[in-house]
Amino acid sequence: MKTTRYALLLSLSLATAAQAADETPAELWTAKCKSCHGPDGRAQTQMGKKEAIVDMSQAAWQKAQTDEDIREVISEGSSRNRKMKPYKEKLTPEQINSLVGYIRTFKKG
Ligand code: HEC
Repeated sequence: MKTTRYALLLSLSLATAAQAADETPAELWTAKCKSCHGPDGRAQTQMGKKEAIVDMSQAAWQKAQTDEDIREVISEGSSRNRKMKPYKEKLTPEQINSLVGYIRTFKKG
């Protein structure tokens, strides 16, 4: 009986660990970026308004940024505004890449 319970606990905690390492870009965005950039990247948030954060849904902004530009800001933070912190210690290169792709989905029209 004890062994069964232990096995169940173990498999539950393994499942949780796997999930944490396997967050979708949408989950990452919600957990780490949404508070400032908003759910849709339009930055209609308190921080967004205060810091005049760009509306990432604008076609012009999307066009002006290469994937490399976006990756760079996420990894290194913004040199213009320290509120945009570097994420290279917190996210893997794969997670940063997935966020670049996610930011591309904000583009409207
Ligand atoms: C504490 C608030 C905050 C959080 C959280 C935050 N950002 Fe930012 N972000 C900013 C600010 C402020 C700027 C504007 C920087 C500037 O003007 O140079 C910015 C700018 C950016 C830019 C460049 C936009 C431009 O001006 O061209 C990108 C890309 C970006 N953030 C992505 C992210 C991603 C991805 C995350 C989550 C991993 C994130 N940010 C989390 C505040 C935040």
